[in-house]
Amino acid sequence: MLDDGETKDLQDLRQTRGPGTSMKHITCIEDLRQLHKRRVPKAFFDYADRGSYTEDTLRANSADLQQIKFRQRILVDVSKRSLSTTILGEPSAMPLILAPVGLLGMQHGDGEIYACRAAQAAGIPFTQSTMSICSIEDIAAAVDKPFWFQLYVMKDRGFIKSLIERAIAAKCSALVLTVDLQVIGQRHQDIKNGMTVPPEWSLSKLIDFATKPAWVSGVLQGKRRTFGNIAGHVKGTEDLTKLSEWTASQFDTSLNWKDIDWIRSIWPGKLILKGILDVEDAELAAKTGAQAIVVSNHGGRQLDGAPSSIEVLPEIADAVGSQIEIMFDGGIRTGMDMMRALALGAKSCMIGRAYAYGLGAGGQEGVAKAIDILAKELTTTMGLCGVNTIAEIDDHVLAV
Ligand code: GLV
Repeated sequence: MLDDGETKDLQDLRQTRGPGTSMKHITCIEDLRQLHKRRVPKAFFDYADRGSYTEDTLRANSADLQQIKFRQRILVDVSKRSLSTTILGEPSAMPLILAPVGLLGMQHGDGEIYACRAAQAAGIPFTQSTMSICSIEDIAAAVDKPFWFQLYVMKDRGFIKSLIERAIAAKCSALVLTVDLQVIGQRHQDIKNGMTVPPEWSLSKLIDFATKPAWVSGVLQGKRRTFGNIAGHVKGTEDLTKLSEWTASQFDTSLNWKDIDWIRSIWPGKLILKGILDVEDAELAAKTGAQAIVVSNHGGRQLDGAPSSIEVLPEIADAVGSQIEIMFDGGIRTGMDMMRALALGAKSCMIGRAYAYGLGAGGQEGVAKAIDILAKELTTTMGLCGVNTIAEIDDHVLAV
């Protein structure tokens, strides 16, 4: 069923792009974004693409990265370049992680499974979001290797405990605790679009869906159309209307540093705190016993007016880089952006939108394409900066 889905997906992709066109004509992440926009209903494309309020922070993430210039170096033997590295002590084909992204299964039927398979085929980690469409168990049954699980802490702590236990039972190899979404930043476009999960089959939506037949058939063939980790696991959420009410009221505004101890008492494995933007918070995070932090402003989807992630990365890396592993997220659209973040102190980078565009554009093949584009851009950039290994990348590759 899934494999048929993939084949069909490719056929549909060719239909959308015209005869003879395929992923080989996609040369950059922006191409995937454009194709995603054509293939996926507006409400879900916008959900992935847009940010909170004025979107100043969303724009700053990319704009600040682009201002950082490289030092071109010549006549260095760069014939032995390698992207391989370690992430949390495990070998990884490149310093890249697929970040948790909610609702992937609404960008493409069974989207979480396809994205996880693409990451595992490329030899990099995939992180499943709490707010995913496929459940933890769906993914575990469909992939070969362990994946990471992202946790939102909700008021119903009994449910959160059982969610962590499900991640343990599914052999997830790291827990990514998101710490910047106790209060939800408003994304105007989601409200304007009437974005709902499951999708609402209203007249205006049906008109949009009618122009996206491949998306409709993929989503209808997919395992689920609602939040697979939650629906049916909490009393009163069997009914879909109640589920969305429950979710909206459940993000726990009381979450605080003491809760990390509680989480650590249930989760025995590697812990990553995602959403750190301040040196003082990074210092507190380093004392929790977590193995890594992700310097992140949630892709400009939360505190509008916060600095870009790249602006704060160097000071955070200086303060805690020797105590805790630093991951970076926010605005990465190219391998050049990855090089910038690595140069300024990140050990690895997370991408969210860059692969969600690939998923919407072409399922598993689209995600694989997004990863491949970044890998090729990073290896070229390393070559032109005279660098052979990821470990060698530091601020010497930057022009001052
Ligand atoms: C959830 O993490 C979101 O940003 O929508």
